[in-house]
Amino acid sequence: MRVLTGIKPSGSPHVGNLVGAIRPALGLADQPGVEALFFVADYHALTLVHDRAELGRLGREVAATWVACGLDLAKVIFYRQSDVPELFELAWVLACFTSKGWMNKAHAYKARVAAAREAGAAEDEIDAGIDMGLYEYPVLMSADILALDSDVVPVGPDQLQHIEIARDIAERVNHTYGDLLRVPAARVDQVLVPGTDGRKMSKSYGNTLPLFGDPKELRKAVMRIVTDSTPPEAAKDPDSALVFQIHRHFLSAAEADALAARYRAGIGWGDAKKLLADRLEEVLAEPRRRYAELMASPGELDRLLADGARRARAIATPVLARVRQGIGISG
Ligand code: TRP
Repeated sequence: MRVLTGIKPSGSPHVGNLVGAIRPALGLADQPGVEALFFVADYHALTLVHDRAELGRLGREVAATWVACGLDLAKVIFYRQSDVPELFELAWVLACFTSKGWMNKAHAYKARVAAAREAGAAEDEIDAGIDMGLYEYPVLMSADILALDSDVVPVGPDQLQHIEIARDIAERVNHTYGDLLRVPAARVDQVLVPGTDGRKMSKSYGNTLPLFGDPKELRKAVMRIVTDSTPPEAAKDPDSALVFQIHRHFLSAAEADALAARYRAGIGWGDAKKLLADRLEEVLAEPRRRYAELMASPGELDRLLADGARRARAIATPVLARVRQGIGISG
């Protein structure tokens, strides 16, 4: 079973990324019979980031994050999207089988249209500020998936529509030419970690616990976790305590039970937060060391990613040859 997922570089990795995306993906990659491909979707980030230095930095940060968090490079094929030219060739082929009407229904595009309407744009000017990169985002994403003959694509619920689009495109190609493309299935693993204010942890809410950087910042962020005004000695309900709901992701079942008992017996919020901060420090010490090392030696990171790209291309090249031959492009 070939499992593939793309990681959009979005900067400042946080505990929500670790628990919600990185750990489940690494867990899946560890299962017997799974061949895992994970890649940095740097060309997708170009739809948002037009600053040269920033685009480069974001890509390196996210690559270093995954390696530092324990991605096994001997097992997982880990690469940069931009290093696999076959994806972009396939994207064109797929675009020729993609109904423009489907793209009009894509969530990200619809949100931009709604925002333009909201801002009072005239009907014939609605699309003026929307570039083709955003519009075709789902087509490139389909190429990412289909060029590697993926079976399963683990994604968050917000990406499900894109996988549906990839399946639709593959089926349309297959309907025209016979079975040329492998039709993938989505897999939604939803592990949600609340942020310091109780909403989903997300950079856009400013409620994250940062993974790397100054450990003092992490401690400060932990201290900001919202609590109520119950006195220290009063019993606390772990199920409704935000501190506990974050902490439990870093504990075994037995440890979580023991900590829950302490909450019920009465624990001060300050102490509860200190326990969480200590735990995070322990868990993150090694990833933090490795992250700093990788960020300090871009050459090492580039070598790792180049090796991944070589292995990814070894899969994508024959798929593209099959597609070219299937559609009647020679060579
Ligand atoms: N669009 C995905 C996101 O924003 C990232 C991504 C790009 C991806 N290509 C992919 C995910 C292919 C799965 C498969 O998170």
